Amino acid sequence: MYRRSIEDPAGFWSDIASEFYWKQKWGQEVYSENMDVRNGTISIEWFKGGITNICYNCLDRNVESGIGDKIALYWEGNELGVDGSLTYRQLLERVCQLANYMKDIGVRKGDAVVIYLPMLMELPIAMLACARIGAVHSVVFAGFSAESLAQRIVDCKPKVVLTCNAVMRGSKIIYLKDIVDKALTESTGNGISIDTCLVFENQLAMKREATKWHEGRDVWWQDVVPKYPTTCSVEWVDAEDPLFLLYTSGSTGKPKGVLHTTGGYMIWTATTFKYAFDYKPSDIYWCTADCGWITGHSYVSYGPLLNGATVVVFEGAPNYPDSGRCWDIVDKYNVTIFYTAPTLVRSLMREGDEARNFSNITRICHVKIYVPSDFNCSLTMQYVTRYSRKSLRVLGSVGEPINPSAWRWYYNVVGDSRCPISDTWWQTETGGFMITPLPGAWPQKPGSATFPFFGVQPVIVDEKGTEIEGECSGYLCVKGSWPGAFRTLYGDHERYETTYFKPFPGYYFTGDGCSRDKDGYHWLTGRVDDVINVSGHRIGTAEVESALVSHPQCAEAAVVGVEHEIKGQGIYAFVTLVEGVPYSEELRKSLVNAVRNQIGAFAAPDTIHWAPALPKTRSGKIMRRILRKIASRQLDELGDTSTLAEPAVVDQLIALGNSKI
Ligand code: WTA
Repeated sequence: MYRRSIEDPAGFWSDIASEFYWKQKWGQEVYSENMDVRNGTISIEWFKGGITNICYNCLDRNVESGIGDKIALYWEGNELGVDGSLTYRQLLERVCQLANYMKDIGVRKGDAVVIYLPMLMELPIAMLACARIGAVHSVVFAGFSAESLAQRIVDCKPKVVLTCNAVMRGSKIIYLKDIVDKALTESTGNGISIDTCLVFENQLAMKREATKWHEGRDVWWQDVVPKYPTTCSVEWVDAEDPLFLLYTSGSTGKPKGVLHTTGGYMIWTATTFKYAFDYKPSDIYWCTADCGWITGHSYVSYGPLLNGATVVVFEGAPNYPDSGRCWDIVDKYNVTIFYTAPTLVRSLMREGDEARNFSNITRICHVKIYVPSDFNCSLTMQYVTRYSRKSLRVLGSVGEPINPSAWRWYYNVVGDSRCPISDTWWQTETGGFMITPLPGAWPQKPGSATFPFFGVQPVIVDEKGTEIEGECSGYLCVKGSWPGAFRTLYGDHERYETTYFKPFPGYYFTGDGCSRDKDGYHWLTGRVDDVINVSGHRIGTAEVESALVSHPQCAEAAVVGVEHEIKGQGIYAFVTLVEGVPYSEELRKSLVNAVRNQIGAFAAPDTIHWAPALPKTRSGKIMRRILRKIASRQLDELGDTSTLAEPAVVDQLIALGNSKI
């Protein structure tokens, strides 16, 4: 299949696409592309002229094929025992009601809709309702701050914002509506005023009476949406009409609006889901990602629903009420395919490991140990093993390289050494899996994403952009297009070309480093640009820096990533204060808060390193290479510091790093 997908992409993908519903088949060309900046504007089109609708393919097509009564979504709430479900037919009805409402308030094909919702069923419902009427959704992860939300609203100018009043995450309540209010005020200040904010009353977190209300603009979801008809005609769109925008971090401060279109994305997410997870109609599938990220778009909503799968949507936190929650959910729903991020595996593994060491001691020493009553080791030991997990069949990993020890724990402990792991490498930009195992098809190597998916031609290039063959390491690029590729950065095609296609002309540049071993397996080595991967979330160093320097007492900041045991990478910030301002613990907190408020809690620096000055070249460029070494305490690897304008700065930084202020 792989060979055919490379030799005859048109035939390969049109055969697959024909299994879906098209109101009208695409034109003569299955695809057309220019991936080479030297040949003019970059353009990628798949199934152009084909008329379809992804919501129709996710829902109506499945209902018509006879699985209307199959569960589409199981919803597991934050609290134990709080749950719900929707069959394909019920989901279709809910989607139609919201679609009708949005049409009624004037949302039309091509209009943007911002969705700021937690993992309630209303989130996939909202995405599908937009798709049904041809509106372009822009989901903003509900952990983003008001400022980040405002920035995205100003960029895409939505007709309506969909949100809820509050949500419980673990034992914490988050007042989402307050954040939206702040963002909307800020957007108005930037000339974008939103007529309608549709608010879902999330009664489990907050009653409507307690919610601050903006008369005339705010509308309770439950007051209007259920009154609309449960059927809604479909807006048929071209395969190349936009489906959604999703903002992601780049190496400058401004997030990039990655734009995906309808037809290619539909075929890509459906096919990658089906093969990389070896999907069978009897599967129960659970992906722990939030729909606010690409993984939630492609592999909570679209990919699985296009296959008629049963999907678990989890609102809560994986360690609430305790670290056994994931396996409790696996047993409760008999989950067969479980897809998560290495950061979660590592955090759960740490608990398990403590337990294992403890059990070794008891076995080897044969002495009686008096355990203090507050010592909960025996509890942690059972976090995984007290659940059966026998339903599990395939495990998945995404977001960052999975280190071999975490891989082994995931494989041996969680999967009882019987479930293959699909380590799926891909990006917001690629729409779906690019390098991934096909479960059972070839031997696994812990930590390797293995081989390319159908239609994908990964190449490794050196600094000059020359392809290197065989066993090697370098920059990961992709040759040729694939159906799920993003088509542009919203409103900035030039940045699209500059970021992704100019670094190595002739290829799509991923921003990742990669090596290939003698057997042809691919090993991703992390970002090679100014992007940090924290718990599988992409964060631009420039974004964090600009949040820090917005603090009135911060003169300059430089942010680098450092290895972090659980998060993969942690955020390490060097901060120079305004002349005369003294260092203090309070100021440190207030700087961290500046980042929380401007981006979101997930981007908060782990370390603030006071810097009387930053190491710069004579032309004023910050030498990040040196900062990375200082941050990771690799002081004997600082390299050549002679090109610095003031080499003494480095010693000052090292000295300050050793003394805790
Ligand atoms: C990293 C998430 C190694 C990589 C789907 C990429 C991975 C970035 C893997 C994209 C993996 C994702 N192994 N690294 N299996 N999956 N990455 O856009 O650095 O949030 O460029 O998409 O995550 O992050 P994004």
